[in-house]
Amino acid sequence: MHRDYLIIEGGRSLKGEVLVSGSKNSSLALIFASLLSEGESLLEGVPELLDVRNAIEILKFLGAKVKKVGNSLKILPKEIGCMAPDCLVRKMRASVMLIPPLLKRKGRAVVSMPGGCAIGVRPIDQHLKYFKRAGVEVEMEGGYLLLRGKKLRGCEFTFDRITVTGTMNALMLSSCIEEETYLHNVALEPEVLDLVEVLKKMGARISLKGRSALVIGKRDLKPFKHRVIPDRIEAGTLLVAGAITKGEVVLRGAIPEHLKSVIEALRRANQEVLLEDGKIYIRGKSPIKPLSLETREFPGFPTDMQAQFMALLCVAEGRSLIRERIFENRFKHVGELLRMGARIYVKGDLAQIEGVKKLYGAEVFSTDLRASAGLVLAGLRAEGITLVKDIYHLDRGYERLEEKLKKLGAKIERETQV
Ligand code: EPU
Repeated sequence: MHRDYLIIEGGRSLKGEVLVSGSKNSSLALIFASLLSEGESLLEGVPELLDVRNAIEILKFLGAKVKKVGNSLKILPKEIGCMAPDCLVRKMRASVMLIPPLLKRKGRAVVSMPGGCAIGVRPIDQHLKYFKRAGVEVEMEGGYLLLRGKKLRGCEFTFDRITVTGTMNALMLSSCIEEETYLHNVALEPEVLDLVEVLKKMGARISLKGRSALVIGKRDLKPFKHRVIPDRIEAGTLLVAGAITKGEVVLRGAIPEHLKSVIEALRRANQEVLLEDGKIYIRGKSPIKPLSLETREFPGFPTDMQAQFMALLCVAEGRSLIRERIFENRFKHVGELLRMGARIYVKGDLAQIEGVKKLYGAEVFSTDLRASAGLVLAGLRAEGITLVKDIYHLDRGYERLEEKLKKLGAKIERETQV
């Protein structure tokens, strides 16, 4: 694992235009979905980042041929095995989405049981509950999940709680089953809808009504050609970068409807956001007004933007409240922000942020992907030098974030720790 860190000299207003990359979470789902067919699929707009590289390695290990040209991936999974590579799977929770293609293609799947991670326990009970309902036999042995699915069946299933990858897994598996499947209480994140588009291109019939989906699958799914949606979380992070540095940033390629709750929160914080000619403009304004935010499933305010908004609210005029309702342990950035002079009090799932006049540069540690993004944003605003350590977390999910920020005028460099 590399130990790169970022050196940020804060206090510069960002200015300029920047292109938003393809969505990490869409790409991961679609890379795994390509295994549902034996033919060659083409995925465009795939971001260059660590999680995507790991997903490609997993596919290659399984026997798929993967050709990468720029941001396009050609995937030919003519013959694949049923056992996922342990060391790679453990690096990435998203690899639970290997299960439906392996069940479809091989009738069985062996994957290591995902454990907790930096942001919470993250069980997969809902995935397994649906799989069992669809006729999959599930066993656990020595930390591995052994799944067998010789006779899959359509069913009616209601998720006890809304889950993004759980919904994706149910959509993928039911897309291979010719009987009708009714899924209720599904996640409607844009990345889920992107997967629905692809499954339809592959030949499944899927109709959505509110939080319910009717899926009529096909045994022989076709390969697909698809461009992944832009990354709404990268876009949101860049918008906050504009706001926190009192800058003027223009985003190209983002989809405003995917960012409604984020744009609305920025506007409530007195930041100017304009939508024009397919671009999103932000002008950072003083004072930043305090907010009361709650993370929710889409279309609510995304948990993946919580740390970035916390950085912004550290320098707001007054007291803000953030309630984290999706993950039970997603406040690890708080300790690091305190080292930069922030005033934050956490009780359970609630963080109370007392705005301060200034943040000060410090050495801080990334604890997870979005926490690192929050620290980078705080560093851009802080007086003095901030060192953000352990940025392999950041590299998992952002495509050359420091290069994009640099292009906008930030003073930010990557160093490799020896
Ligand atoms: N949950 C259960 N049981 C389940 C599944 C989920 O209790 O079977 C709980 C989780 O523990 C969590 C909540 O339900 O408390 C929501 O989890 P969800 O399953 O929706 O999350 P996920 O699918 O594991 C995806 C994204 C995350 C993003 C969340 C929420 C991918 C690969 N990951 O995770 O992205 O935070 O949805 O929107 O799509 C990130 O990009 O930084 C990231 C963590």
